[in-house]
Amino acid sequence: MALRSASSLRADLALGGRITAMRLGGLALALRGDPVARLMHKPWRLDPYPTYAAVRGEGLARSRVGLSAVGTHALCEQVLRDRRFGVRLADGRPPFAPEDAETSLLEPVDLSLLGLDPPDHTRLRRLAQPTFAPRRLQQYRAVAEEVTAGLLDDAVARGRFDLVSDLAAPLPITVIARLLAIPSVDADRFARWGRALGTALDGVRSVSHAHELARTTAEARDLFTDLVDRRRAEPGDDVVSGLVGALDAGQMSLDELVSLAQLLLVAGFETTTNLIGNAVRAMHTTPGQWEALVADPSLAPGAVEETLRYDPPVQLTARIAHEDLDLAGVRFRRNWGVLVLIAAAGRDPEAHPDPDRFDLRREQTTPHLAFSGGAHYCLGAALARLEGEVALRMLAERLPRLRPAGRLVPKTATILRGPRTFPVAV
Ligand code: HEM
Repeated sequence: MALRSASSLRADLALGGRITAMRLGGLALALRGDPVARLMHKPWRLDPYPTYAAVRGEGLARSRVGLSAVGTHALCEQVLRDRRFGVRLADGRPPFAPEDAETSLLEPVDLSLLGLDPPDHTRLRRLAQPTFAPRRLQQYRAVAEEVTAGLLDDAVARGRFDLVSDLAAPLPITVIARLLAIPSVDADRFARWGRALGTALDGVRSVSHAHELARTTAEARDLFTDLVDRRRAEPGDDVVSGLVGALDAGQMSLDELVSLAQLLLVAGFETTTNLIGNAVRAMHTTPGQWEALVADPSLAPGAVEETLRYDPPVQLTARIAHEDLDLAGVRFRRNWGVLVLIAAAGRDPEAHPDPDRFDLRREQTTPHLAFSGGAHYCLGAALARLEGEVALRMLAERLPRLRPAGRLVPKTATILRGPRTFPVAV
């Protein structure tokens, strides 16, 4: 026992040293103007849009972090759609394959589809698709409306509330819990895990963060494994029951099912929370926009689309070249990685005239890339749009005098962007 704890202490020290070295190295590069390093460090990442503009200006921006970046709409779309790029290395290995116990803590979360290339990606995506069939979406709309109405009743009674913890977070988490038929006794734990796993997207920040993620993943695995057993014994009309059929038919493994359920939790929670927060923020910082929505709540879908373009919840993703190729006139080598700056594409003046102006009546002639493109196009896009539209429409109808009432505290992440707390009054 003493021996084990001494070795785990040594592993923690080594991991801590490695994380600190990575952070200091990145900060030094950011100070020297490296665009990719700036996206990962404060203060630049609190307002990444000037860095995005710099990357757009460069075409393919090279970085000493070991990754390049693209930020124009055309280049982002090209990389996302080009089948010569994937999310794993060219030989199918994951990009950060753990070499030992220490490095396995650096990559603690298996993000299912998001970390797979064909043929596994194609097979699993096909099995996950029925989750978002039109028939189901109608059920989710009823759930979203019922949940929003209840949350707004509570908010109105209080007069002041936090837009994030009192509406934008509980709405999507309740919808996903219903979608996966998670018993309500587990709902709070489920929300805590969703938040914790969402932070994994940016990488591990510290030794305690690494341990928290490893613990959360293990707990989530237990819950989903248990859920599979229960659905097998008592099948229902929910998503997990449907996937148990695929499991029993040998089309997927238990590990794959559990990771997919975990992905639905991570992908569908923080993203939609950020969409609602970023939308209300943009409408209140741009004169006349909130008033326009109040005057005509049927503009809610336009407000959702404009937020997705102007300040998207998922700011960037990454791809790896599977062969040597030309990208923006530069020779790009097999296994080199490139960041695709989705949020920079949304502000590209070549694709969106007057891109820094938020306008919920804007007609987007070039569709934004907030839900990505190509093989990994967001499976939950229709659900996210539906939840965003219900939340904004009902806010405008029920709380027309809604206004900021205190300091908005942003999340400090690189990939997921949105408010952490957003005090409002009605
Ligand atoms: C506004 C909210 C949302 C945004 C902005 C968003 C954005 C994205 C993006 C950018 C990707 C692709 C990442 C890449 O190309 O590497 C993605 C993938 C995915 N999203 Fe969403 N998402 C949202 C909501 C949801 C919801 C509500 C769900 C489901 C409950 C969901 C499920 C998924 C899944 C399963 C994938 C993986 C698809 C694949 O790899 O084939 N998303 N999402």
